[in-house]
Amino acid sequence: MIKWDDNLKIGIKIIDAHHKYLFDLCRSLEMLLETPLGVYKVDDAIKIICDFREFLTFHFYYEEIYLKKFNVSDLEEHLLEHEEFKNQIVNININNIYNENYNELKSLLNLSYGLVFSHMADKDFKLKNLINK
Ligand SMILES: [Fe+2]
Ligand SMILES: [Fe+2]
Repeated sequence: MIKWDDNLKIGIKIIDAHHKYLFDLCRSLEMLLETPLGVYKVDDAIKIICDFREFLTFHFYYEEIYLKKFNVSDLEEHLLEHEEFKNQIVNININNIYNENYNELKSLLNLSYGLVFSHMADKDFKLKNLINK
């Protein structure tokens, strides 16, 4: 189970709160995927996808203000990764979820692990180094 660790803090309160909430979303997704087959979970699955879509758009928008303000290196690459994350979430086929096919949720979970571990640790952490200078 995914668990927030304070070592992941960047030092900008609002961004850290967002990242922490992303962990909560991942946790909800993990729990949903562990719910046994046969248990009706369509509504919960759709709610999680919507929460991810809404929250990531909001978070990226907010984070990008800081990225530009602090003039982080590899900005273009960073923004591109945000776009890719958003596109992948928008492209989830909700009809599959209605048909109780949750394979795309597994992909969403892997995508989220990439977001919270690889993207945050590699890209977002550049902010930490800049604000602490
Ligand atoms: Fe972030
Ligand atoms: Fe980011």
